Amino acid sequence: MPPKTVNSFPLSLESLAPVGQWLREGNVAALPTETVYGLAGNGYDERAVARIFSLKNRPQFNPLILHYAHIKEIEQDALFNPTALHLAQAFWPGPLTLVLPRSPQCRVPLLASAGLPTLAVRIPRASFLEALIAQERFPLAAPSANRSGHISSTTPAHVLRSLGSQENLLLVDGGACPIGIESTILDLTTATPVLLRTGALPFEKIEEFLGQPLRMEQSGNQPKAPGQLTSHYAPRQPVRLNATSVSPHEGLLAFGPSVCEGAALTLNLSETGDMIQAAARLFSYLHLLEESEIPQIAVMPIPLVGLGIAINDRLFRASIK
Ligand code: TXA
Ligand code: MG
Repeated sequence: MPPKTVNSFPLSLESLAPVGQWLREGNVAALPTETVYGLAGNGYDERAVARIFSLKNRPQFNPLILHYAHIKEIEQDALFNPTALHLAQAFWPGPLTLVLPRSPQCRVPLLASAGLPTLAVRIPRASFLEALIAQERFPLAAPSANRSGHISSTTPAHVLRSLGSQENLLLVDGGACPIGIESTILDLTTATPVLLRTGALPFEKIEEFLGQPLRMEQSGNQPKAPGQLTSHYAPRQPVRLNATSVSPHEGLLAFGPSVCEGAALTLNLSETGDMIQAAARLFSYLHLLEESEIPQIAVMPIPLVGLGIAINDRLFRASIK
C-alpha cells in the first residue's frame, strides 16, 4: 500500500495537525525541507529514531541531523562556542548543519548520535517544517528520505520510488525542494571549524564570514563518523585484512560458511553471510579478539554490499594505526 499523503499547501492547522499527531505517536514521516526530503521522527523518542534507521536501512553507526525551531532549544541539548553561535545567528534558518558537543543533559537518545559525544543540529528554512517543529515540543531527527546509499529525494515522487514500499510511512507533499542539495556540515567541536560535507551553503561564504579558511576533512563527503577516530575502533593488536589463510598466532574474524582453518581463535561474524548479523556482532567480536591477547587479528574478506560497506570501512580504520 502506498504511503498516506498529506498536502502541505496551504500551510494551515488542517495540514499540520495530522502530521504532528502522527509524529507524537512515534511514527516517521517523509517531509520537505529546503534542501532535500527528510525522513523525520521525534528526536527525543528512541523508538522513533530506531524506526528511521530501519526504514532507511541505514548502518546504525551513521548519526542523524536534529532539526529545531529555536537556538534556545538547541542550547539545552548541545554546547555552542562563540563561533558556533555567530554562525548560527548568521545562517539559520538555512542549509547549514553544525556538529556540536552534546550537553550533559542532552535529551536526544545516543542512538541518534550513533554513540558519539556530538550532535548535528540545524534550523531549516522551510515553512511547513518550521511551523511543525515550532508547534511540537521535540526536534525532528531526519536523514535524507532515501534508502541508505541511494540518491537523495527532492520530490515526493523520488520518496515514493525509494521508500514507497515501506509500511507506516506518512508522506508530506510539499512539491519540489527549492535547493535540492543537502546542507553544508561544519564540525565545531575542535578549535578550528572543519568542513565535513560541502553542501547548499557555499563554504566560501562561511570562510568570508569567519575571516579564516576552513579546514577540510580529508574524507570529503564522508561524515565524521565514529570510525574516523581510529583509536576508537582499533584493537591493540595489528589487524590484517582480506585474509584467505590464517596462522596459529592469529585470531580470526571470519565471515560466511567456508572458514579458513588453523587460527588460535575463530569468531564468525555470520555463518550464513548475513550482513545485519555481522554488523551487530562486529564491535563485540573485535573486543573479544583484543581481550584474547592473541598477537594478531586476521579478517576474512567481507563483500562490499549493503552494511558490508560500513563494516569494511570500520575494519579498514581499525587496521591503520
Ligand atoms: O540537508 C540535509 O542535511 C538533509 C535534510 C533532511 O536536513 N539531511 C541529510 O541527512 O542530508 P543525512 O543523514 O543524509 O546526512 C547527514 C550527514 C551524515 O553523513 C552523518 O554522518 C552526518 O551528517 N552527521 C550527523 N551527525 C553527525 C555527528 N554528530 N558528527 C559528524 N557527522 C554527523
Ligand atoms: Mg543522505
